Amino acid sequence: MKAAFFEEHGGPEVLNYGDVPDPVAGPGEVLVDIFAASVNGADWKVRGGKYSRTTEFPYILGRDFSGIVSAVGEGVDDLGVGDAVFGVCDVGQEGAYAEKIAIKASILTRKPDSISHVDIAALALAGLTAVISIEDTLKLQSGETILVQGGAGGVAGFAIQLAKHIGARVITTASSANRDYVSRLGADEIIDYGALDFTEVVSNCDAVFDTVGGDVAQRSFNVLRPGGRAAFIASGAKAPEPPRDDLQSLRPQVGRDRRHLERIVELVEAGAVRVPEITLYTLAEAAVAHGVSESRHLRGKLVFKVR
Ligand SMILES: NC(=O)c1ccc[n+]([C@@H]2O[C@H](COP(=O)([O-])OP(=O)(O)OC[C@H]3O[C@@H](n4cnc5c(N)ncnc54)[C@H](OP(=O)(O)O)[C@@H]3O)[C@@H](O)[C@H]2O)c1
Repeated sequence: MKAAFFEEHGGPEVLNYGDVPDPVAGPGEVLVDIFAASVNGADWKVRGGKYSRTTEFPYILGRDFSGIVSAVGEGVDDLGVGDAVFGVCDVGQEGAYAEKIAIKASILTRKPDSISHVDIAALALAGLTAVISIEDTLKLQSGETILVQGGAGGVAGFAIQLAKHIGARVITTASSANRDYVSRLGADEIIDYGALDFTEVVSNCDAVFDTVGGDVAQRSFNVLRPGGRAAFIASGAKAPEPPRDDLQSLRPQVGRDRRHLERIVELVEAGAVRVPEITLYTLAEAAVAHGVSESRHLRGKLVFKVR
């Protein structure tokens, strides 16, 4: 499949895997043998040059993973060889579509035996983003109503369940094909965006969490009550300008730390958040997985089973 892809698209001269040196754990880092890594929306955007343009190749994509520590760098005393860990690459670092990665130990956490490598890889960046957006940024409260845009996606699926766990009423948008899926995640009201304009059937929300972007993001302000707040993760680095000055438009700052990864584990182990629907790929099928992610109509998460 890889050979056929290169034949069709070209580029094998820059994708010579033999040229990639094995990573080494530097001070404060561990080397992880990756068992699973997930596809995130950012990956095909990076590949397409939509973020800062990458000039050095081979370039390894991928922002989250799960695996086993195989070497420990100087100064790391809280993780050891053989520990199962998961995490999200540091801001500015990528390289999880791989068999090995060297990464700061302080931004990894232990993977519990109760969650598989594939499942926790599916939850890492999606969960981190949802927790920071719903709990830290929107500060959603029990009894509030939230509209989660794009309910069938990885981040939104986690957010729906987290919002329900907090005690909020959850409205979400999805295509008719994903209606049952978002219903199983716990959404109270589901709007088939192909049949209805959400601005005509939703109003007076306390909060909106938008994972779709574009026109959907901008129109999301219309459903907020006076004083309502909205958080946006698919509209670039800045939140869109609100049309009224009584609304809060927020861009979650998705940093990396162990505490938020532990929160993901806590929510899964408590049964508050279930693992999303997962489609598995091998690393050699990365181009195919990107095609699915780029279509923006997948359900749940796409995960590479590396080992
Ligand atoms: N740190 C960060 O800031 C951060 C982290 C993670 C992700 N993101 C961004 O967040 C976005 C979402 O990522 P993701 O991985 O969770 O999801 P995704 O894989 O991009 O999935 C998109 C979902 O949106 C739904 N959708 C598409 N058009 C829609 C519309 N008009 N109305 C309602 N739903 C629609 C699709 O479901 P249907 O088939 O039902 O349409 C699909 O399930 C991406 O842009 C990604 O880059 C940002």
